[in-house]
Amino acid sequence: MSHIMLLIVSIHIFIASAFLQIPLASSHPSSPLPSCKAVPGTPNWPSPASWARLNESTGGRLLQPPPPGAVCHPGQPTYDAAACADVQAGWTTYDFHQRDPVSSMWNQYNNDSCLPEPGYPCSGQGYPVFVINATTPEHVKLGVRFARNHNVRLVVKSTGHDYVGRSVAPNALSIWTHHLKGIKTHTSFKPKCCNVHINSTAVTVGAGEQMIDLYTHLDALNQTIVGGGGETVSVGGYLTGGGHSLLSARYGLGADQVLELQAVTPTGNLIVANECQNTDLFWAMRGGGGSTFGVVTSVTMRTYPTPQLTNLFLTLATTNSSSPRVWDMVAYVLSQFPSLGDAGLSGYSYLFNTIPNPLGGGASGTVSGMIASVVLQDTQDAQAMTALWAPVLAHVSQTWPEMIVDTNITAFPSFLAWYREHHDTTATGNDTFVGSRLLDEAALTGNLTASADAFRRLSSGGVATAYLVSGKGVRDARPRGGGDAVLPAWRRAYVHSTVGVDFHPLNATARAEAMAKLNYSLEPLRKLAPDMGAYMNEANPYEPDWQHQFWGANYERLVQIKRAVDPEDVLWCAPCVGNERWREIGNRLCRV
Ligand SMILES: Cc1cc2nc3c(=O)[nH]c(=O)nc-3n(C[C@H](O)[C@H](O)[C@H](O)COP(=O)(O)OP(=O)(O)OC[C@H]3O[C@@H](n4cnc5c(N)ncnc54)[C@H](O)[C@@H]3O)c2cc1C
Ligand SMILES: *[C@@H]1O[C@H](CO)[C@@H](O)[C@H](O)[C@H]1NC(C)=O
Ligand SMILES: *[C@@H]1O[C@H](CO)[C@@H](O)[C@H](O)[C@H]1NC(C)=O
Ligand SMILES: *[C@@H]1O[C@H](CO)[C@@H](O)[C@H](O)[C@H]1NC(C)=O
Ligand SMILES: *[C@@H]1O[C@H](CO)[C@@H](O)[C@H](O)[C@H]1NC(C)=O
Ligand SMILES: *[C@@H]1O[C@H](CO)[C@@H](O)[C@H](O)[C@H]1NC(C)=O
Ligand SMILES: *[C@@H]1O[C@H](CO)[C@@H](O)[C@H](O)[C@H]1NC(C)=O
Ligand SMILES: *[C@@H]1O[C@H](CO)[C@@H](O)[C@H](O)[C@H]1NC(C)=O
Ligand SMILES: *[C@@H]1O[C@H](CO)[C@@H](O)[C@H](O)[C@H]1NC(C)=O
Ligand SMILES: *[C@@H]1O[C@H](CO)[C@@H](O)[C@H](O)[C@H]1NC(C)=O
Ligand SMILES: *[C@@H]1O[C@H](CO)[C@@H](O)[C@H](O)[C@H]1NC(C)=O
Ligand SMILES: *[C@@H]1O[C@H](CO)[C@@H](O)[C@H](O)[C@H]1NC(C)=O
Repeated sequence: MSHIMLLIVSIHIFIASAFLQIPLASSHPSSPLPSCKAVPGTPNWPSPASWARLNESTGGRLLQPPPPGAVCHPGQPTYDAAACADVQAGWTTYDFHQRDPVSSMWNQYNNDSCLPEPGYPCSGQGYPVFVINATTPEHVKLGVRFARNHNVRLVVKSTGHDYVGRSVAPNALSIWTHHLKGIKTHTSFKPKCCNVHINSTAVTVGAGEQMIDLYTHLDALNQTIVGGGGETVSVGGYLTGGGHSLLSARYGLGADQVLELQAVTPTGNLIVANECQNTDLFWAMRGGGGSTFGVVTSVTMRTYPTPQLTNLFLTLATTNSSSPRVWDMVAYVLSQFPSLGDAGLSGYSYLFNTIPNPLGGGASGTVSGMIASVVLQDTQDAQAMTALWAPVLAHVSQTWPEMIVDTNITAFPSFLAWYREHHDTTATGNDTFVGSRLLDEAALTGNLTASADAFRRLSSGGVATAYLVSGKGVRDARPRGGGDAVLPAWRRAYVHSTVGVDFHPLNATARAEAMAKLNYSLEPLRKLAPDMGAYMNEANPYEPDWQHQFWGANYERLVQIKRAVDPEDVLWCAPCVGNERWREIGNRLCRV
């Protein structure tokens, strides 16, 4: 306890007098392996002069940002009541956190260390100490090399959306990739130093580019990408983690679309990875996870003609929340997803124990059941959607006549037109853990008694999802170079199911209860689909056997590649490939 207090005191002194301190010895490459990464206030931490040189070499792009919540705390140098009101208002939005150099979306990942509420404590202890605001690969290289040479913990933040907390860490140097921008389209693509010509439209984008900007840019060309539902999600974390999409059921996952990557390796070299060179990295970085194998600086991926879409907004619910029959109905409808998916349907469905009746109007009270927003592509004909659902809805009405069934079909001329109304608008800024399970056809259709119980349990944790974002397109995808590192179970999956559990900050009991609730909610789905796995980007970081739940049989090869490209563990995160040699002790990162 007392040495933690000492560290807290010393970081404050360090920050207050950063450039007045006498330079302390930095670690030499020849000295024995240090047992922990350097922390401020200890002799191994780089001297102010070293940081100043790093700043100079990046053209003054080194930041020492205060925690974003500090404006709400009277004791802090940046205290500002007016700014605090803005920060509090922004805290629940993705936009606020993605603009900030260090902010992360889910508070427990900055250790609740400076929430924008004056009643809570505020320190810099949950956030990186320095940040490089990178706009070029050269800035990234300088950051990686500095962290490597000085044994400083390194993290990569793009937007901070990460559900598993990989984009923030204490006592670290962070490379902020948000401003690595640029969009260049191609009518066909020749990978660098590669004697192949890929006859597909494509786009090369900076790693900080975000979904809404790509969709908007490409829409002007009548094109789109396999991209995510959140407007501000960036390609950096999305593509390295796999990336599901409304269009993935047709074309494969986001990672499957990648033709080439430019990245800075953990040893600080700028490389190009494609099917002809750095092929191991090319394989690993498409699905092997963010901030593990290198820092992506730009990526080239396929584009597709933007589809016309017909959307069905479907409500299937009951006002009698104590009736178990609603879960039989939900299980039946989800059992139809594989065949509906094979017929071209994709989209998003939400399962809930009790929510305010979404139909509004005269309807009152709360309901249990499911709502869905699902699409057919290349048509604006409502009839196609009506015909597809007719037998399913007829069965529902006959079997569960007490259910509310409401449908609303709308046509959209392009993906972007659909997206403007249907992008992810959920809130952020809580302490939240999510859990994930991929479901194959057998899980959805095998035993509806078991799946009804599993979906009921899933939604007991919070609002649950059953996304129809996999299927034929993911199964038949042909990633360049013969494959990628995406969890193989994705190829068999139709549905990605999640649930999120919020909990009160700075309360270990509440946190443990949330984790137990998450586990309780997911357990029946694990049993229903024991050989599948979880989607690493939207999963519980403490998922048991996360190595195989997130990467399956690819894990061992991924570790070999990690050891080869990052023998010194310059990049370390959790839950990430090959991280077993270090662990966090308080806010330090130490060798096991
Ligand atoms: C509102 C919302 C909607 C979402 N919708 C979808 C969806 O439809 N489909 C889907 O698949 N996922 C979706 N996600 C999950 C999303 O894929 C992950 O949150 C992802 O990690 C976000 O990546 P990021 O770069 O924006 O975030 P960050 O938190 O900045 O980064 C995530 C991870 O990637 C690493 N990283 C980021 N950039 C780079 C880089 N250039 N090089 C190396 N590592 C990097 C970070 O270090 C971290 O490990 C959604 C998330 C949210 C919050
Ligand atoms: C880096 O240099 C710029 C410009 O010289 C300066 O404004 C900034 O404060 C410096 N950053 C740090 C962390 O000292
Ligand atoms: C980061 O760099 C971008 C691009 O140069 C600039 O617009 C932005 O203001 C910088 N952010 C901070 C916090 O310095
Ligand atoms: C490239 O693909 C287009 C459309 O699929 C096709 O019409 C064209 O013939 C192809 N060109 C080459 C050189 O293969
Ligand atoms: C996009 O499609 C519209 C409608 O079909 C057409 O008028 C327009 O010329 C197309 N734009 C491009 C850039 O191809
Ligand atoms: C609600 O469902 C329960 C369990 O099936 C049943 O006993 C009860 O009568 C129902 N209530 C109403 C108001 O229909
Ligand atoms: C149907 O959906 C459209 C578009 O989402 C919406 O504008 C409209 O109000 C809805 N109609 C009904 C009757 O709910
Ligand atoms: C289906 O699942 C239920 C509940 O888990 C179980 O009791 C039953 O034995 C299962 N049926 C079959 C045929 O496996
Ligand atoms: C989550 O955030 C919302 C909005 O900020 C807040 O009202 C709610 O109390 C939070 N939930 C928990 C469990 O802290
Ligand atoms: C912490 O959370 C637990 C469980 O939710 C609750 O019972 C307890 O009152 C909370 N403690 C405080 C100090 O809020
Ligand atoms: C999760 O729940 C299962 C049974 O529901 C239990 O066996 C297991 O120990 C729990 N795991 C954790 C990490 O709580
Ligand atoms: C989180 O903060 C607590 C103090 O509130 C501290 O004891 C703990 O070590 C911190 N954990 C990390 C990982 O920094």
